[in-house]
Amino acid sequence: AKSVLSFELDNDFGVDANPQDEDHIIYEGYPNLERNIPFNGEKALDVYYQKNGTTVKKPVVMFIYGGSWVTGDKIRYTKFGVLLQKSGYVAVLPNYRIYPSGTIEDMVDDVYSAIKWTYNNIEKYGGDPNQIILTAHSAGAHLSALTIVKSTLGLNNNGVPLTPLPFIKKAVLMNGPYILNKDLIGHTIIKGISGGISSGSGNNQSDPSQITLLPKFLLKYYNDNNISPIALLKKAANNSITNQFNIGEFTFFYTSKDGTVPESSAKNLIKEINRTSPSSICNYVYEKGLEHATLIFGIRDGDIYYEN
Ligand SMILES: *[C@@H]1O[C@H](CO)[C@@H](O)[C@H](O)[C@H]1NC(C)=O
Ligand SMILES: *[C@@H]1O[C@H](CO)[C@@H](O)[C@H](O)[C@H]1NC(C)=O
Ligand SMILES: *[C@@H]1O[C@H](CO)[C@@H](O)[C@H](O)[C@H]1NC(C)=O
Ligand SMILES: *[C@@H]1O[C@H](CO)[C@@H](O)[C@H](O)[C@H]1NC(C)=O
Repeated sequence: AKSVLSFELDNDFGVDANPQDEDHIIYEGYPNLERNIPFNGEKALDVYYQKNGTTVKKPVVMFIYGGSWVTGDKIRYTKFGVLLQKSGYVAVLPNYRIYPSGTIEDMVDDVYSAIKWTYNNIEKYGGDPNQIILTAHSAGAHLSALTIVKSTLGLNNNGVPLTPLPFIKKAVLMNGPYILNKDLIGHTIIKGISGGISSGSGNNQSDPSQITLLPKFLLKYYNDNNISPIALLKKAANNSITNQFNIGEFTFFYTSKDGTVPESSAKNLIKEINRTSPSSICNYVYEKGLEHATLIFGIRDGDIYYEN
């Protein structure tokens, strides 16, 4: 059976797709775009901006895509960049390392560096560094929340304590799994662990070479509290975060037909933010009828409803 999970893992979001496909053609031809700017070692990001209009500063939207930590490429989200640029924003779409060549700490390092790069460099592209809006979906929302929490708490990442991030005006986190534990059972993200390896994604657990990347990833990180923004915040005392995480406001977006991650993930993270930082602003947007990635696919399809 094709699960939501294997759907998400389809080539659709992969890096090896046909260079002649629609995304690549738009990407290569779009004029208001600077491609492949290096920001952290080999990692690169794209900036969509109005090249002839950089004097009046525009708000900046970063988009951290999902892809189950094991797939994803910024070219797959060219239409997000174009949509945002045409809507009056400067858009920043970074790539980040993925498993197994990258660990979660590497991914956090990339997200963290991409935010810092944006703050330090976006003015040249007509972006206002004081109006950075961080948007992220699914695994990208998890990595963004983890980056925010670790940098706020000054926790080590790859052996280096993270310093606070620059001020982010809004963090819009969509359909993210913020803890990888039993809370996920019953949702397709966890099929790989809860016995569904053979049925869920066409693999066979008794033959290790057959276990594909997401189940391997989940086996490595399942119950690992150091990669969960909820679990990390649980260790912090009430009212102990006094800078509101350096986030002007959070918006958590969840959809009623998300079979991949449970709503409790967003709810429990909001609860921990509120407990440790009661003056933080947390909006909650619950959209009926949408699945885990309906919004993402809607934008990729050029559907005006989802673009709006
Ligand atoms: C800038 O370029 C856009 C097309 O990308 C054009 O519509 C607009 O008129 C140009 N503005 C100026 C000031 O040249
Ligand atoms: C799973 O793999 C093992 C070892 O290769 C094999 O003996 C077994 O028949 C496989 N099971 C299925 C359902 O394919
Ligand atoms: C911390 O806050 C929670 C919920 O807001 C409350 O239940 C708990 O008693 C508080 N703990 C302390 C030590 O004040
Ligand atoms: C935040 O915590 C306060 C108690 O400290 C509680 O009254 C309020 O309902 C909480 N809000 C959310 C969104 O959890």
